[in-house]
Amino acid sequence: MYPIPIMRHHLSQSPASRIPSRRGFLKTAAAAIGAPFILPSGSFSKPLNSTLQVAVIGADGMGYSDMTNIGSHEKVKFVGFCDIDSSRFAKADKAFPGVAHFADYMEMYSKLGDGLDAVCVATPDHSHARASIEAMKRGKHVYCQKPLAHTVWECRQMKLWAEKSGVITQMGNQIHSDIAYRLGVRLLREGAIGKIKEVHSWVSVDGRERTSFDDRPPKSLESTPPANVNWDLWIGPAPMRPYVSDAYHPFVWRDWQDFGTGALGDFACHILDPIFTALELTAPTTIRAEHSGTNKEVWPGPERVYYTFPGTDFTAGKTIAVTWYDGKLQPPKELAQMPDNLSLPKAGSLIIGEGGNMILPHVAGPRMYPQEKFQTFAYPKDVVGLNHRHVWVDAIFEGKKTSDGFHYAAPLSETVQLGNVAARFPGETLEWDAAQMKISRGAVDSTPAQAMLTREYRKGFEVTPV
Ligand SMILES: NC(=O)c1ccc[n+]([C@@H]2O[C@H](COP(=O)([O-])OP(=O)(O)OC[C@H]3O[C@@H](n4cnc5c(N)ncnc54)[C@H](O)[C@@H]3O)[C@@H](O)[C@H]2O)c1
Repeated sequence: MYPIPIMRHHLSQSPASRIPSRRGFLKTAAAAIGAPFILPSGSFSKPLNSTLQVAVIGADGMGYSDMTNIGSHEKVKFVGFCDIDSSRFAKADKAFPGVAHFADYMEMYSKLGDGLDAVCVATPDHSHARASIEAMKRGKHVYCQKPLAHTVWECRQMKLWAEKSGVITQMGNQIHSDIAYRLGVRLLREGAIGKIKEVHSWVSVDGRERTSFDDRPPKSLESTPPANVNWDLWIGPAPMRPYVSDAYHPFVWRDWQDFGTGALGDFACHILDPIFTALELTAPTTIRAEHSGTNKEVWPGPERVYYTFPGTDFTAGKTIAVTWYDGKLQPPKELAQMPDNLSLPKAGSLIIGEGGNMILPHVAGPRMYPQEKFQTFAYPKDVVGLNHRHVWVDAIFEGKKTSDGFHYAAPLSETVQLGNVAARFPGETLEWDAAQMKISRGAVDSTPAQAMLTREYRKGFEVTPV
């Protein structure tokens, strides 16, 4: 139960305003002098009419959830649904009949041209960066599912392309806008538990429990993909491998290093988000992972990842330790000073402050301990929940950044993906220089860790750097 009344609030009433843009003029001028397509920073998007023409990439799964939320905004009109699996359009077609289908988002971008203003990218993680960046290059506003991208380098490119194109972006960690996280953030920032000394965040699933495989499937299971699945497009930027039924598509791609980003990628962009916002964290300086072993194919099972961040105005010390746990691992309950009859939630954060402790469950209202101290605490009554997707649509009409734009979501996602780099060097403390994008392993050769910041792209599916 929340300690305060819940007020769910949609932003769809905000006035429409036009994004000031010189794009049309510049495009004509550029064409006249034979200049390249790339336009100056902040000028990629075109002026809007009263309607936002949106395409959704990934028509089922989370894409369907995003679609119904975006589509409930009165100013949104869908102009394209894109999915590499033709059997995945049925729900979308029922909810929004008559929208054009595409298998390849590149073909969709080219065919829709200026008839497309914005895209929602809800493909598996390995396809986020290319789909989003190709959209930003064309001046399309982007809502991209979490984690922002598959590698640290891709996350950085997403941020840089958002800056360069000036389009309005938002990551799909929708709980950012939920009343529970917004209240937790507010309390932390107002000092309800004082300056923060350490943070522990966890989720009950681990990085290899969604697929039944823990290594490359045997040849005997390889088969021709069904006619409805375009396997080449599904593989996209990753190295080609044979189709195996139920091994990758749909949903279970999460556990494979080539496609997903493990338990960290699945949950840490949600659970660390209020910590990032409240404490104004940016990039960790050290990362160390512990787990019982991994291989080159799947992510590790239960793990702990120890991050150190530079301190901020909201932390007690010059640095702050944030520890991530997944699988069956959790912080010791005693740290929370909660009553004996209560347990830690299955997922969430324990935030230890100089003046008390907060449990911020994923997803429920914050609770503060020791109980005696906070029994009469006056919770603010004016915190509201927002419709995360409407926040993005409204921001496009208002020409404003959202608090969860790629300028914010990229450093958060980079942090998450750095945990996945550390998972390949268990027990080692990696030092991270975010400005230079450099990993150091002390006296040990850093080249293999540095290489894991990015990936080799399959020909034809490269991600364009800024
Ligand atoms: N925010 C959340 O709470 C939340 C919850 C679940 C999933 N997600 C994220 O949403 C994304 C999708 O996850 P999911 O569980 O829906 O996966 P899924 O595999 O169930 O669905 C992905 C859909 O994308 C399609 N697809 C795959 N590659 C494509 C491509 N290149 N072009 C067009 N379509 C393509 C697939 O056919 C499928 O319909 C992931 O990034 C995941 O992390 C977020």
